[in-house]
Amino acid sequence: MVIAIQIILLLILIACWLYFASMLISDLFGVPFVPTRNKSLDQIFDFIEFNQKDVFYDLGSGDGRLPFYIAKKYNIKAVGVELNPLLHVFCLFKKWLTKSEKVQFYRRNFFNLDLKPATVIYLFLFPEVVEKLYPKFMKHCPRGTVIISHGFKIKKLESKKVAELPNKPFATYFYRL
Ligand SMILES: C[S@@+](CC[C@H](N)C(=O)[O-])C[C@H]1O[C@@H](n2cnc3c(N)ncnc32)[C@H](O)[C@@H]1O
Repeated sequence: MVIAIQIILLLILIACWLYFASMLISDLFGVPFVPTRNKSLDQIFDFIEFNQKDVFYDLGSGDGRLPFYIAKKYNIKAVGVELNPLLHVFCLFKKWLTKSEKVQFYRRNFFNLDLKPATVIYLFLFPEVVEKLYPKFMKHCPRGTVIISHGFKIKKLESKKVAELPNKPFATYFYRL
């Protein structure tokens, strides 16, 4: 009994350590790992009418909760792109565990990624990073691509804004190129 409790405590300790280590690593890459709240997901994605041809990308996908949620709820392909190796391994493990065939994860810097296949792109990133992505969107994304920015407006895309969800603590902004 005592050994079982010790093992559980050790596992909790390892999980906490991995969580804080992954936050630290993401921080070093410029954007900390702060996940979108699960309870906001239905509200955010009720704004989008997905069809079976849509391909969802989360740029900086953290623990992968958005790709898993989208693939399961809408049965479409959902891609997560993440620099942090710990979070990437966690996503691969969860994919294996849940046998989710529609999700795909890349351990990559999203600035070096081909965004053409994406029809819906999700961002929860600092404003300066989002603004740096703007030229990439304009150059590579086809007309009609939907861009969702959670937390921060994309000032340069103001004229293409189609909706806004004024939630707390983070609002969500929707654009269509
Ligand atoms: C605020 S978290 C958002 C996580 C997830 N999208 C969500 O909403 O739950 C931002 C994530 O972006 C990742 N990230 C930051 N810069 C990146 C880059 N250039 N390429 C790939 N991932 C990046 C960080 O490691 C972090 O996990």
